[in-house]
Amino acid sequence: MPTASTDRKIDRLLQLMAQNATVVLPGPKIASEIGVTRSTVWHYIERLRALGVEIKGHPSNGYQLQKLPDILAPSLLKLDAGEGRIGHKILHYFRTDSTNSVAMALASKGAEHGTVVVAEEQTAGRGRLGRVWHSEKSAGIYVSVILRPPLAPSAAPVLTLMAGVAVHQAVEIAAGVTADIRWPNDVLVGGKKVCGILTEMSAELDRLHAVVLGIGINVNHREMPGQLKAIATSLRMETGRAVSRALVLVTLLKELEKQYQMILLEGGQAAASRWAAASTFAEGKPVRVLTGTGEYQAVTAGLDARGALRVRRGDGREETLVAGEIVEVR
Ligand code: BTN
Repeated sequence: MPTASTDRKIDRLLQLMAQNATVVLPGPKIASEIGVTRSTVWHYIERLRALGVEIKGHPSNGYQLQKLPDILAPSLLKLDAGEGRIGHKILHYFRTDSTNSVAMALASKGAEHGTVVVAEEQTAGRGRLGRVWHSEKSAGIYVSVILRPPLAPSAAPVLTLMAGVAVHQAVEIAAGVTADIRWPNDVLVGGKKVCGILTEMSAELDRLHAVVLGIGINVNHREMPGQLKAIATSLRMETGRAVSRALVLVTLLKELEKQYQMILLEGGQAAASRWAAASTFAEGKPVRVLTGTGEYQAVTAGLDARGALRVRRGDGREETLVAGEIVEVR
């Protein structure tokens, strides 16, 4: 598995080629600029080609980028995030096991608020409830954001809701689609899932140390595999065209920053209201509620300030869901 420092060198190579897109760059020049041997340059070029980056040329006459690739390398993302803001530091991996695992490990070593971990591919992407997250190479966005909110652990669900709202905004803005949010935080397009969010944290009883928002967005998948076909889709499958992952990611990080600042200013109730405004699931939706022990039918009846969902059962009883899953009943 490549290390982050190898990935940083390949990012540097990409940046160099993007800055000199009109010229053929000789291998030795690239080698000395990024501090590796000529044969390593060739090896990196081959890895980039395998990721779909179009590069003309070979070791004897140099290399030239054919067009700007849709790769989530920090040097290619046009994000102007100030110090201390979400995305001020981005660690980019070509391949890793899980960006959430990387981010949790970094958080335990003191990584700052706003640090972002992003990968082109995950070999062990994790979903909620112990599921696997399908992480096809360079088709999706696999990103984890480290937050250090001055809040109690009870605020964590609201941060997850906020992430759902930010993704909802980002896919609508960047891909021009109409999106929905299914409680707690699946973003849907055309009734199928395009995004899932896995929130993990480390906390004491009364204080959050770090929250990791792990966000997976299906962007340019041409089809979904096997059983996922019925329940999941991608932005490309919904719009019929390729969507810039870089644009979706940059828009997402800006939206997260905006929503996060609003939570600090206005609190949980305002965040729940923003979620409810973006979701058709907040109120009056007939759903099946899946709990750890069974399932029942109900109609949704609004969110509370902690992000819990109220549902009304057939016999009039109200329940408040703090975890679990709901499925629309059509
Ligand atoms: C879900 O089950 O809906 C949540 C899926 C979360 C997937 C993302 S991809 C980036 C981050 N890294 C992981 O291993 N999981 C999350």
